[in-house]
Amino acid sequence: MELQCFQCKHKLPIQALAYTCPKCGSLLEVEFSDKELKRNLKCYPLSGPLRVWRYRALLPVLDFSKVVSLDEGGTPLIRCDRLARYLGIEELFIKFEGANPTGSFKDRGMTLGVTKALEFGAKIVACASTGNTSASLAAYAARANLKCYVFLPKGKVALGKLTQTLIFGAQVFAIKGNFDRALELVREVCEKNPRIYLLNSINPFRPQGQKTIGYEIVEQLNGSPDRVFVPMGNCANIWAIYKGFTEFHRIGKIKKIPSMIGIQAKGAMPIVRAFKRGWDYFEPVENPETIATAIRIGNPVNGIKALHAIRRSKGMAEAVSDKEIVRAQKLIAQLEGIGVEPASAASVAGLIKLLRSGEVSKDEKVVCVATGHTLKDPEEAISISEPPKVISGDVRELKGLVR
Ligand code: F0G
Repeated sequence: MELQCFQCKHKLPIQALAYTCPKCGSLLEVEFSDKELKRNLKCYPLSGPLRVWRYRALLPVLDFSKVVSLDEGGTPLIRCDRLARYLGIEELFIKFEGANPTGSFKDRGMTLGVTKALEFGAKIVACASTGNTSASLAAYAARANLKCYVFLPKGKVALGKLTQTLIFGAQVFAIKGNFDRALELVREVCEKNPRIYLLNSINPFRPQGQKTIGYEIVEQLNGSPDRVFVPMGNCANIWAIYKGFTEFHRIGKIKKIPSMIGIQAKGAMPIVRAFKRGWDYFEPVENPETIATAIRIGNPVNGIKALHAIRRSKGMAEAVSDKEIVRAQKLIAQLEGIGVEPASAASVAGLIKLLRSGEVSKDEKVVCVATGHTLKDPEEAISISEPPKVISGDVRELKGLVR
């Protein structure tokens, strides 16, 4: 296995401490050869419960004694018959990433990323975040006894995520700017201080943990679905899941790679715009805005990778309004009992839109990735719900209300 530049294909040894290509500045990828994949699987056959570390044969770790884990992964793939019937589709599943230890898919990337931080001998880790990355990094850093710096857009991080980041003991900097600015800042900080290990998704190892979402979907369905819907923010996750499918394809576990559908919020849709215009580049959105604060991102660092995953898998990109996100969030909650945060509901909102336009047909097997738990953003959930009816406690007050 080695690091390879996504654009110019320049190669670096896997032990190299680098985030971008020294030649062209693009993102780095971890690549296994077919021979390595097969050999590793012989040494560590897939066994044990569904978890990130079930796939150790396919993960780029050099020293397994360093693994930092909270038993992440193995999230339920929930068959949603009521929601499917309501939407008029035959088979719909929600991959509920809210069931991870800190309540989002980020834990899959952080178990690997923090393990790599220890391999590199780091004592400090850092990230910029819309909230979930920081909650997850703070937890794994605490477990690994690493100092953790976090840069957040002030006033734009949901309460649950901020709560987690603080209680896990991270040093939090709230910056007067959006996520894109916070990311620029932390990149600068880590460049100036190479002792600080950067754990945003430009880190080549994090998506390697997240690719296990793809592996698990295949194992849970005993094959490939037709389509996988993924909300896009910084755009690493859709790429990572796609990568998981391509590797399972290479080792003969699946015959077909599902089509990847990337969903953004209308106020933050640089990749959807690029996809629809047929561009192989994208123009950043200046002042991104959406109720789904997790994906309130105008200049996604992994945007090019997302375009690649979508096009290669014959997928699509679509944008949804805040109103559509809220409606989908309520449907998922009230028809299926699955509580997700707004960014996660974007995947189902996208499905609703593409079913209506006829671009997805009713007989397709669809998986929507629900990336984060509803308790991440309790204020939003309360604001879109019917408020409690206040009563003084006399049973007569309930007349007509409780039948
Ligand atoms: N859904 C949730 C709940 C997220 O927190 C994020 C990203 C995404 C979807 C989008 O994933 O960035 O890989 O395209 N949250 C990051 C954070 C930006 O800082 O927590 P992506």
